[in-house]
Amino acid sequence: MDDTLIRPAVRVSGEIVVPGDKSISHRAVILGSIAEGRTQIVGLAPGDDNRRTIELFRAMGVSIKEAPHNTVFIDGVGMYGLKEPEDVLYAGNSGTTARLMMGLLSAQPFFSVITGDESLRTRPMARVTEPLTEMGATIYGRKNASYLPVSIKGESLKGINYRLPVASAQVKSSLLLAGLYATGETVVEEPQRTRDHTERMLALFGANITRDELRVRILPATGLKGRHLRIPGDISSAAFFLVAASVLEDSEVVIRDVGLNPMRCGIVDILKKMGACIEIFNIKEECGEPVGDIIVKEAPLKGIELGRAELVAAIDEFPLLCVCAVFAEGRTTIREAEELRVKESDRIEAMAEALKKLGVEVEELEDGIVIEGRGKGRLKGGVRLETRGDHRIAMALSIMALNTEDGIELDDTECVAVSYPDFYKDLEEVVVR
Ligand code: S3P
Repeated sequence: MDDTLIRPAVRVSGEIVVPGDKSISHRAVILGSIAEGRTQIVGLAPGDDNRRTIELFRAMGVSIKEAPHNTVFIDGVGMYGLKEPEDVLYAGNSGTTARLMMGLLSAQPFFSVITGDESLRTRPMARVTEPLTEMGATIYGRKNASYLPVSIKGESLKGINYRLPVASAQVKSSLLLAGLYATGETVVEEPQRTRDHTERMLALFGANITRDELRVRILPATGLKGRHLRIPGDISSAAFFLVAASVLEDSEVVIRDVGLNPMRCGIVDILKKMGACIEIFNIKEECGEPVGDIIVKEAPLKGIELGRAELVAAIDEFPLLCVCAVFAEGRTTIREAEELRVKESDRIEAMAEALKKLGVEVEELEDGIVIEGRGKGRLKGGVRLETRGDHRIAMALSIMALNTEDGIELDDTECVAVSYPDFYKDLEEVVVR
């Protein structure tokens, strides 16, 4: 792979539409596949992660047709219509695909094996295999079913009452999908609220699901009904433009039709607390989710202290928060972020290493990072940084590069295809050089 030089920008300006939400898209494909009748999805997230989920269902006999504008037509096979796959199921880089599918596969009356790429095979899976085993599934895998690949022999499951040891929407969703098929009630208690796209989408497809504070309950379903869905824009993709416009002088960007689920909008709330100038308007509803337009203008930022409570709704924006911290006035401390060590890469280490190479004063903590902000103005740049094949690190460092004098060389930018294949094309639309 050749290095890519990300050149500096004078400012960013204009209007943009970001791709469909990756998390919501996974849920739409999963539920559309096991619903009855046709599900039409417009604006499906175009990245490799979502392609993996589509391919998994095709491997289990579901017909999924693709049309322009990221539209897909799924002919749902019903809850009991999936076929035993003939080969190993490949989740690529996608933790959401792997973990959510393990819940669904645990309830199917057949044998399956699921694996992923080098990064995914290092990520913790016991958090799903343990409770799914408790529900009755037979799961084998490396290190006691802690790592992919795992094999699953689905069984008739029984509902359980489970308190999640980590705040994880993926684990919660996996158990809720299994709970659709289990006897009795399945109750998942979260230590802290996490994104609730699965709950919203399940309700939309007709499942019997309720929430009581931190407890989500699902009853077994007899059938789900296909839907027509329009996927909201991905706030985690919009976030790159929010930060670029906040830090580059004289910038102003409008982002249309962005998903505004409160459990995903942490980046907006945190940026505002740091002093950013962001307004939201034209709020409506799509897919059972709030959606709106966002306008962001350059503003001076100040350092901030962040912990678990704020981070949960900005869990994927850690790399970007580090970029904001560099251009803020004063110190930023991010703690209780240990989950970031087991994402697509160790994002704490990746960002600490990158910032050090850029000459930023930074301290890596076991569970976070301390960054001495430099305030307004550009970094020198002119260095080569490693993205570790992690899409969000690559995109965050690219935003950082815009606010340098000499740009930044990145070793791998192809990985952005995991969530945002047209990231560089869209960025060029708003960059002024
Ligand atoms: C996701 C949940 C989060 C997030 C990931 C997508 C989801 O992971 O980091 O990018 O779609 O449910 P965890 O549930 O592991 O926190």
